[in-house]
Amino acid sequence: MKNDLVSLMKPSVVAIKQQEIFKFNARAKSIPGAVNMTVGEPNFHTPEHIKQAAIKAIEDNKTHYTVPEGDHELLSAVANYLHDKYGLNYDPETEIVATTGVTEGVFSAFNAILQEGDEVLIPSPAFTIYGPDADFNGASPVYIDTSKTNFKVTPEVLAETIRTNPRIKIFLLNFPSNPTGVSYTKDELEALANVLKKTNIFVVSDEIYSELTYNFKHVSFGSILPEQTILLNGLSKSHAMTGWRFGVVCGPAAVISQINKIHELATTSITSITQYAALEAYQNGYDDPIAMKEQYQSRRDALHEGLKEMGFECPNPDGAFYLFAKIPDTYTQDDVKFANELLEEEHLAILPGSFFGIGGEGHLRFSYAASMESIAQCLAKLKKFLEDHKN
Ligand SMILES: Cc1ncc(COP(=O)(O)O)c(C=O)c1O
Repeated sequence: MKNDLVSLMKPSVVAIKQQEIFKFNARAKSIPGAVNMTVGEPNFHTPEHIKQAAIKAIEDNKTHYTVPEGDHELLSAVANYLHDKYGLNYDPETEIVATTGVTEGVFSAFNAILQEGDEVLIPSPAFTIYGPDADFNGASPVYIDTSKTNFKVTPEVLAETIRTNPRIKIFLLNFPSNPTGVSYTKDELEALANVLKKTNIFVVSDEIYSELTYNFKHVSFGSILPEQTILLNGLSKSHAMTGWRFGVVCGPAAVISQINKIHELATTSITSITQYAALEAYQNGYDDPIAMKEQYQSRRDALHEGLKEMGFECPNPDGAFYLFAKIPDTYTQDDVKFANELLEEEHLAILPGSFFGIGGEGHLRFSYAASMESIAQCLAKLKKFLEDHKN
């Protein structure tokens, strides 16, 4: 080979940078005994009845390929669950595809829709895969800074951004949000839908944290604007099933059939055993999230209270398991410096807000998918750090 190997690869892939979060976490893990408040997954185990269903599927030799979109008994169970929980009406025969987590759902949906020059509207700060997924397809992310509007997009800003960016193809909405924990009420979603329904923009609605909504009932965008919405959901957070890699993409049949082509090219189908585990979760695991949610809620309250006492400003999160707190004005507003020093000096790992993009500067993201003991240690370490760094 004459050339440097990387120079022969696709430039849009080479340009993808390793996420700062992974590097930061690797450093945190290398410090023995460090308290880690960065983790984006439940610290609970998958419910026993789901594990048993998967074991039985292996014993019954359910170990073959399935149809690409997923076994239709499973898709029916998904449709029933989404109907019972959120009043959604998806046809399991044509309007749902099971994916390797929401991560693949975003990838396949973006791949099926976007082409060179398109734009993807992303409220920021945001989960870190959306921007690179847009870039990789030759599209450009357009970020809306939500830090001045309680981390929510307002209909006015949405309308103005759409007016000035005519190439927007997708509006990416994630609620409850990672990293901020804020969610949208029905009225707020309807106001956004009023703007969107006059356009040809798809709404890709990542509702992976829907079951972890504390302050009001979760309303799905799929129930507000079904003809334009591509709904993403899954079991990673609600049923503590991150490692199983299960997600669903739901939407109009015409759109789902195109997304299913990408999904089939990438995977043939998701793992058969995961499908049987998911079938059990959707048929008999309606209440599994309740006990976990109660615990997250008490942890959220303890962490929120403790941070408020130390002078951190943060909205009391509506959902997910993150708290996005503004560093008090009397300390450095360089969140990366703050988080690095906190890790070095106190062995406490909290993610800098700017890792989640525009609007995250000067903030820290705490995950409370951690034990109460870790939360108590986190608050004690943070208090000491603030005392040591008083101006
Ligand atoms: C907002 C959001 N979407 C999607 C994912 C990934 O979900 P999955 O495990 O289903 O791929 C995460 C994981 O942290 C997330 O926070």
